[in-house]
Amino acid sequence: MTGAHQAAVIPQKGGPFSIEERATPEPGPGELLIEVKAVALNPVDHYQRDFGMPLVPVYPAVVGFDTAGIVVKVGSNVSSALAPGSRVIAFASSFFKNGSPDYGAFQQYALAQSEGVVALPDALSFEQGAVFPLAVMTALTAWTTIGIPLDTMYSPEDKQAVLIWGGASSVGTFAIQSAKTLGFTVYATASPKHHEYLKKLGAHAVFDYTATDVVSQIVEAVKKDGVNLHTAHCVVKESLQPTLDVLKETKGDAAAKVAHSPLLPEDHPTLDKTEITFNFPPTDKVVRDKHMYQCFHGWLQHGLKSGSVVPSPALQVEDGGLRGLNAALDKLKVGVSGKKIVVPI
Ligand SMILES: NC(=O)c1ccc[n+]([C@@H]2O[C@H](COP(=O)([O-])OP(=O)(O)OC[C@H]3O[C@@H](n4cnc5c(N)ncnc54)[C@H](OP(=O)(O)O)[C@@H]3O)[C@@H](O)[C@H]2O)c1
Repeated sequence: MTGAHQAAVIPQKGGPFSIEERATPEPGPGELLIEVKAVALNPVDHYQRDFGMPLVPVYPAVVGFDTAGIVVKVGSNVSSALAPGSRVIAFASSFFKNGSPDYGAFQQYALAQSEGVVALPDALSFEQGAVFPLAVMTALTAWTTIGIPLDTMYSPEDKQAVLIWGGASSVGTFAIQSAKTLGFTVYATASPKHHEYLKKLGAHAVFDYTATDVVSQIVEAVKKDGVNLHTAHCVVKESLQPTLDVLKETKGDAAAKVAHSPLLPEDHPTLDKTEITFNFPPTDKVVRDKHMYQCFHGWLQHGLKSGSVVPSPALQVEDGGLRGLNAALDKLKVGVSGKKIVVPI
């Protein structure tokens, strides 16, 4: 296919998006060209639009990560399971492609590497499919960042527990879903209105993070349940100190590990025998591609087929297509509560 398509382009550092025509690219080996039907928004998108950070190395830029759409063309070495015409979920990002705008999600046609593309089940809409890519990749990368392989399967006798601080966030909901499939007993924090929902996703117990005694509530529950809590994922900002306060009481003399998804400040709090690691995909391309394959073709694809993984959190669909992206992203910037903003394209 040759031709041109519309894209939400960041013309220079500091945005905003403007709608421009771009040449439609050809997929290279191991790549697919996706006709984007829906995109989902992530906090990183407004940081990149407004500040050029995390680094946007090329302008005009096309950013965004999360798409669902239809395969229109495949390069060599792509599985026949992803043939043209297939409905797919696709991690489409210029971030890991040296900023090449052909790969960003926020356009009508985007390139994606096959490791990050899986079939969208018939029962799910494009809008539902778009919620998965970056949140799933981030939630799963947190496990491997702290040395927990994705094929881990603890049994109840292992009594392994995890604390997920920020369970109602987009990443948090997949942290809960994946923790459950790994066999952890899941303790999470969220506003009370989300507690029942997060239990349906797999949390064993959920705590209101605004309660002044939230730390002691969690510690008490863990001790009563008789499980081993020395693993945590800080999904949201300002969650490290209370997480360490919990671990201090629950880990005893054992070592503990914490994955931290927001940027980790240099002067962050610490705890004895506790390793705190910024959650980020492997920097080596070969290792990262293999990891991405495990996230999408392993955990996500199997989970969607078996029904153990569902779209989460609740969708907030915003209209306007590519032209609506500035306003939709401004809404995310103000903040969401238990919602994923999705824009049909
Ligand atoms: N390292 C990486 O590669 C990577 C990748 C993607 C995202 N991230 C980062 O991960 C974080 C989460 O992203 P996201 O898209 O999942 O965010 P999000 O969905 O926009 O997060 C919103 C949610 O955060 C919850 N929240 C806010 N403050 C909280 C607190 N103090 N305690 C508990 N929950 C709190 C709110 O819960 P309630 O509704 O219950 O109040 C709200 O539902 C962001 O900082 C993002 O930048 C990092």
